[in-house]
Amino acid sequence: MSDILPDQVGQWQYLERTFQSMVKRYGYEEVRTPLLESTALFTRSVGETTDIVDKEMYSFEHNREALTIRPEGTASVVRAYIEHHVHQQQQLTRWWYGGPMFRGERPARGRYRQFHQFGCELFGDPGPIGDAELIDMLHHFFTSLGIGQLDIVVNCIGDPPTRALYRQVVHDYLMPRKNELSEDSQRRLDRNPLRILDSKDPRDIKAVAGMPSVLDYLTDDERTHFHGVCACLDRLQTPYRVDTTLVRGLDYYTRTVFEVRTQAGQVGAQNALGGGGRYDELVRQMGGPSIPAVGFAVGTERILLAMQSPKLPQPVIVTMTPLGSRAAIESLLIARKLRTHGVHVDLDSRGAAGASIKSMLRRANTLGARLSLVIGESELAAGEVQIKDLLKREQYVVPRANVVARVLEALKAEDAQEGPQAGGAG
Ligand code: HAM
Repeated sequence: MSDILPDQVGQWQYLERTFQSMVKRYGYEEVRTPLLESTALFTRSVGETTDIVDKEMYSFEHNREALTIRPEGTASVVRAYIEHHVHQQQQLTRWWYGGPMFRGERPARGRYRQFHQFGCELFGDPGPIGDAELIDMLHHFFTSLGIGQLDIVVNCIGDPPTRALYRQVVHDYLMPRKNELSEDSQRRLDRNPLRILDSKDPRDIKAVAGMPSVLDYLTDDERTHFHGVCACLDRLQTPYRVDTTLVRGLDYYTRTVFEVRTQAGQVGAQNALGGGGRYDELVRQMGGPSIPAVGFAVGTERILLAMQSPKLPQPVIVTMTPLGSRAAIESLLIARKLRTHGVHVDLDSRGAAGASIKSMLRRANTLGARLSLVIGESELAAGEVQIKDLLKREQYVVPRANVVARVLEALKAEDAQEGPQAGGAG
């Protein structure tokens, strides 16, 4: 679990803004659900035999209630969708969410115990248009962030009867090869054999190499759906490849599953930037009506590892440089006034306690301030303020009553010289 320090927060906010402005254009509305849910919500949806439920959830008991800090967002969003009878008011529901998720995994680069996701869930669309639009949106999102080397992987794992059938096929195929599997997969063989398909262990990759493909077991309906998704993506010219070993680590998926990976930037072995799929049975299984759904989530930390740091526009700063406590109070008043005009003002309050002008101006330069407003004994006595233009290296004294107007004027003049990238006073 990491602290996100102020020098990193700008990148986070940039990412948040990019995601939010994009999903709005696709018609998604934000939903906010609690961080705590009943443990049963996750065991029933994500699935008992998944790694998440089996060994990663932060669960505890409070007043004899079994609670869990959310390891993912879909289960909570589905619960809210059912609880508020949303399907009675809307035929199609598009919700997005974001925030911290918690999984007690073995930490590594790109894998944390508190991490952050953004996700989208679309209810009421049986597909395949909805599936394709979401995959295309993910592609658009990552390319708009300048992330290259994208590997968009899609597969169809069928509805529950197909999954059950294929699960048996995988089990029977691997049983005679059990000793060739990794220890983890040997354990999975009886409980969740499908997960062995997307194991990264070289022993497992070798063992599943000749496995019959899930696509050979799809019903006509499932096959038509999957072809529909691929045809839409072809038409949209969204790059993707079909990988029949993609299963994903959550049990609620039906039919389409997808994942976006990259090797860009600092991304290491944890190369899945996001993933999702269809979950047509989940709403009904959680006690709601029979409503098809599809969605995805992306991981903020991994995206930041993949991204080149964008050049973020810095706000123009004015610093207040008071010499003494009376000057500091005067500076407070001027700063407040300037802020009402949208100026970013940094008050070096150390001046009230006798900090030297040299030290305060040095700090102003470090902050990249454009102007610094100095108030010393003589300025106080004369009812004036000294404006130091740190860019032009010039200074002038103005009456106290004119200071706000003069500052705004100076900032405007410099903006005009430097163009819109300078950030303006606001
Ligand atoms: P997920 O694949 O478990 O899917 O997580 C989605 C993304 O969250 C991953 O691709 C990854 O970027 C990020 N992520 C997951 N675990 C960690 C971790 N420990 N540290 C850092 N990042 C992580 C879901 O959670 C599904 N709810 C997605 C979904 C929505 N499916 C349908 N709707």
